[in-house]
Amino acid sequence: MQSSDGLELAAFLKEGEPEELFKEMKPFRQLMMQYECALQEVETKLNVLNTEFSLEYDRNPFETIKTRIKQPLSIYNKLVRMGEEITVENIQNCLNDVAGIRVVCSFPEDIYTIAELLSKQDDITVLAGKDYIKHPKENGYRSLHLILEIPIFLSNEKKYMKVEVQFRTIAMDFWASVEHKLKYKKNIKNPQEIAEQLKHCADTIADVDFRMQEIRHHIDKIAEQTEKSEIGMQRL
Ligand code: GTP
Ligand code: MG
Repeated sequence: MQSSDGLELAAFLKEGEPEELFKEMKPFRQLMMQYECALQEVETKLNVLNTEFSLEYDRNPFETIKTRIKQPLSIYNKLVRMGEEITVENIQNCLNDVAGIRVVCSFPEDIYTIAELLSKQDDITVLAGKDYIKHPKENGYRSLHLILEIPIFLSNEKKYMKVEVQFRTIAMDFWASVEHKLKYKKNIKNPQEIAEQLKHCADTIADVDFRMQEIRHHIDKIAEQTEKSEIGMQRL
């Protein structure tokens, strides 16, 4: 997990950070602390669901959770790209992804189960959602994205914070991580061909994801039948 600290801000200043944000450094650090708290809240909720699931169904709905706070320089660059002034208010009002969580699941259907269980909790509001699994991006990217709003309880206020949650399978995560790294490789002579190859890999991976899910259903069915016939035998 990463959080903003003085060193990062010092480096940020050297790159010509506007004086305004510097003046607002304390409020900026307070805001980052609040995003950190919001991340902890959502992470705990996910861990509770995972613990309950493993007891009820003898398996974990997700493999890993990763949390991150957007780096000050990325916050700055994004506001500049959006044509917004660099202020603490604009960070809260214009950006949805300062606090981010990535939930990596084994099977596509688990993504929807956890996303729904989380979304319907009464202190959570879903502000927006993008289903790049049902509607993959043109390049083949797949994930379910939700922008949540969650309250945090500070010493003298209750504050609503935005958190971006990305749900993916292990396979989708593998593709997204490698594709992200490849994006930074320059001097590619045939970008169209590369894009097609990456898209092909994404589609193959999606197919494997659903086949693995089918195998799980098959195994569950066999286990259920075995259990039923064992109960039948005991009754005889
Ligand atoms: P950002 O300004 O990048 O946050 O994009 P957005 O506001 O249009 O939101 P979107 O939901 O499309 O993407 C948010 C995040 O999803 C990105 O920051 C990435 O982490 C991830 N993402 C989206 N598209 C891709 C993609 O094509 N490849 C990879 N590797 N990651 C992606
Ligand atoms: Mg983003």
